[in-house]
Amino acid sequence: MAVKKNETGTAQIEINGTKYDLPIYKPSIGPEVVDISKLYAQANVFTYDPGFTSTANCSSTITYVDGENGILLYRGYKIDELVENTDFLEVSYLLLNGELPNKKEKEEFDNAVTYHSMLHEQMTRFYQGFRRDAHPMAITCGVIGALSAFYHDSTDISDAHQRMVATRRLIAKMPTIAAMAYKYTLGQPFVYPRNDLDYASNFMHMCFSVPPEEYKVNEILSSALDKVFILHADHEQNASTSTVRLAGSSGANPFACIAAGVASLWGPAHGGANEAALNMLDEIQTPDNITKFIKKAKDSSDPFRLMGFGHRVYKSYDPRAKIMQKTCHEVLDALGLKDDPLLKVAMELEKIALEDPYFVEKKLYPNVDFYSGIILRALGFPKDMFTVLFALARTVGWISQWNEMIEDSEQRIGRPRQLYMGNASKEFIKIEDR
Ligand code: CMC
Repeated sequence: MAVKKNETGTAQIEINGTKYDLPIYKPSIGPEVVDISKLYAQANVFTYDPGFTSTANCSSTITYVDGENGILLYRGYKIDELVENTDFLEVSYLLLNGELPNKKEKEEFDNAVTYHSMLHEQMTRFYQGFRRDAHPMAITCGVIGALSAFYHDSTDISDAHQRMVATRRLIAKMPTIAAMAYKYTLGQPFVYPRNDLDYASNFMHMCFSVPPEEYKVNEILSSALDKVFILHADHEQNASTSTVRLAGSSGANPFACIAAGVASLWGPAHGGANEAALNMLDEIQTPDNITKFIKKAKDSSDPFRLMGFGHRVYKSYDPRAKIMQKTCHEVLDALGLKDDPLLKVAMELEKIALEDPYFVEKKLYPNVDFYSGIILRALGFPKDMFTVLFALARTVGWISQWNEMIEDSEQRIGRPRQLYMGNASKEFIKIEDR
């Protein structure tokens, strides 16, 4: 079903002396949207928008970001209220279904998800094909793609029931896949999921327990991890989500689409920034070195950027970063690491950057990745697992957006056009004459 669009007027565009009317739609909140979808058919012109800075690719009812005012809503609920009052599976239900669950619905959903937490046993052998020093994102991407080879029954995208099964499988198996990627790189045995634990605690159990010892999950830490998951659950039409939608628009199965999302997330400008931000803080080492790095970030001839700073949409403080900073203090306090030298560097760096005219004028503020690395490291995760954790949580957003797209009657295969600047015509010369 397509979301009913509220047409409020028309924009006029004049091209080579002819005027064309373009419908304007009013969203529930946010800027109005001019519909240019018929422009090529009517006027034989394309629009040009590298990086999609002004282009809406779909209508959606899932997530809203107000970058000017630092607001993030999941299905209309403020992110800080959700972080304070719900858990990750409750938020998953909300993103998928549009409403918060009541107690019974929550219980049923939790059970249905945990029912799928194990991997097909043959899949566990799939890991042996990777080098021990493989980046866990490489393993995660490969194993998720391989899910379609193990769960054929839920690859039929025309069957609503199978779409639901694939959705639950993805949310349930992602922690198992991620934890196994971690264990594999450590050379430790895989730890099977425990369905009596909540989502975050089960993930910590699969990552940190070893057969010879009893592992007790620290509730303060698993609750912090759950918050990190909620903060990463969805974020509107970002690069990886758009990748999932584009892959899905061709009718590809959901496992293949999520693998595409993981690949897109990996880059340092997107989900890879949490690993890069911690590398940067490690490199800065002490507050005395901050000025040098700020200078490098401002130098247009130097490719270095302050990682965990700046955002395409947020032109004020990223609301996720605010919660992340608070959670970071809670975790370090709980672990008796209040004087963590890295936190000191991060806080000082943030203070200096927020007062520097370069960052002020360009509206560059800390984003979600600035503090998340410090939390994840304190929880015991190595740097190369940070983006995997982002992917784990974002899987629910990706699959919610994928489901919305499949059910949208306006959905067509994604096929951007281009401004062709290559040769118009070249005379062919045979190889022996070139
Ligand atoms: N450090 C220094 N300068 C920066 C930074 C930064 N972190 N971010 C942007 N700028 C400058 C940039 O050089 C440009 O300057 P000028 O106008 O003089 O050319 C201006 O600010 C605008 O930057 P842009 O690259 O045109 O902006 P964008 O919207 O295309 O890029 C971004 C957004 C997030 C990729 C970018 O800010 C960046 O590379 N940040 C560092 C990486 C990072 O933290 N990424 C995580 C994003 S949040 C999580 C997620 O979405 O996955």
